[in-house]
Amino acid sequence: MPSLSVFGAQWGDEGKGKIIDLLSSDVDYVVRYQGGANAGHTVIVGEQKYVLHLVPSGILHQGRVNVIANGLAVDPMALLEEVDGLLERGVQVSGENLRLSASAHVIFEHHRRIDQLSERWRGDGRIGTTGRGIGPSYADKSARTGLRIGDLLDPDTCRTRLRAVLAEKNALIERVHESEPFELDSQIDGYVALGDRLRPFVGDVGAEVRQAYRDGKRVLFEGAQGFMLDIDHGTYPFVTSSSTATNGIPAGVGFPAKNIERAVGIAKAYCTRVGEGPFPTEDHGPEGEAIRTAGHEFGATTGRPRRCGWFDALAMRYSLELNGAEGFVMTNLDVLTGFPELRCAVAYERDGVRYEEFPAGMDLDDIQPIYESLPGWEEDIGAIRDFDALPQAAREYVRWIEGQVGSKILMLSVGPDRREVISLGL
Ligand code: GDP
Ligand code: IMO
Ligand code: MG
Repeated sequence: MPSLSVFGAQWGDEGKGKIIDLLSSDVDYVVRYQGGANAGHTVIVGEQKYVLHLVPSGILHQGRVNVIANGLAVDPMALLEEVDGLLERGVQVSGENLRLSASAHVIFEHHRRIDQLSERWRGDGRIGTTGRGIGPSYADKSARTGLRIGDLLDPDTCRTRLRAVLAEKNALIERVHESEPFELDSQIDGYVALGDRLRPFVGDVGAEVRQAYRDGKRVLFEGAQGFMLDIDHGTYPFVTSSSTATNGIPAGVGFPAKNIERAVGIAKAYCTRVGEGPFPTEDHGPEGEAIRTAGHEFGATTGRPRRCGWFDALAMRYSLELNGAEGFVMTNLDVLTGFPELRCAVAYERDGVRYEEFPAGMDLDDIQPIYESLPGWEEDIGAIRDFDALPQAAREYVRWIEGQVGSKILMLSVGPDRREVISLGL
């Protein structure tokens, strides 16, 4: 697989970190192309648990180059903290195996603050962001007032630009949000110092990835968030601020779309969502609670309980189609052990109108899922590595979901550890 896009096909937290770590053993480059430290990608290796926010999920394999490309919004403090944490745990991280684009946008402390303060103004329309400054930083990128990583490395530019930007942000913070302004000089000195620490990692990483691809290296593009949180195609405005799947790669890396050879979605055997916004198959009853308990469904970045519900074939078809995916990986199948009946949304309905396909761009308030269901299984499946050894009801569930989605399941994940998978061709 010379180039492969692996993206979240639901509302995030599908188990991308685990699967990308696993696939990293067979690739040379792992490239993040969007998002920022709002992501929390969990990788479990034996007794060790790593939660990666900005560093790509290939970092635990030696000899891979991990790239943070131009499409990200990078919080320098968060990145350096993550790097230090990995180094303390004996993971090798250097300018050789971690590369950072000079064109990635910077998330400053004022972005984080404004993210949190803005949520208070939204009232019932609050998004439930991660508070990591993502929206405000991408807003500045589009408004052309943002600073990029390269700007931090040039103290004169950084001082001049940050002084002007912060003066305006301080006015907003003080007069609109009635909060404490930032002290200009200490902020500026702090970010110049952070820029200096980032220097060994920084370069024209788009050119490095294109060269690697030309040299026949295998490149994996690591999506963050999920396609239903995509800025254009997700459940706007309850989305994140980037193009979260294969659609974000060309602009987010500087990589020709025609060279993205394969795309694979990641989806749980059920659905979760963290934060506000429509979630047609959410289960507000005891079964939703039981999924949360069995799947330990609490956010890897913010610790918030995830909303839980059933597999949604409409949303899944939509995600896979728009990203040209050849199939998907189904994770967390083990979590469904013990449920007497498993449900899958096969249509939606509202006011007597039935929707067979995901009604993109429409208000999803009060939309009702139409479910079909199948019996579950009781057996523990975590130790199973062969599809035929799964209980019959589990095999039937997997094949039934494939039929509903009209796409192949290329791998099953039956536990959090990197070894706990059943390969079906990926
Ligand atoms: P990501 O953001 O897509 O990388 O996913 P997260 O790491 O935020 O959330 C996925 C959670 O599910 C993590 O706690 C993983 O350790 C865990 N996980 C991944 N795959 C499986 C699986 O097949 N079974 C179970 N039980 N847990 C899994
Ligand atoms: P990974 O990569 C799940 C959600 C937030 C909120 C919305 C906007 O771990 O799958 P933001 O801070 O991005 O402005 O928040 O998006 N969100 C995620 N949900 N997984 C993520 O990342 C997420 N990143 C953001 O909860 O609803
Ligand atoms: Mg996550």
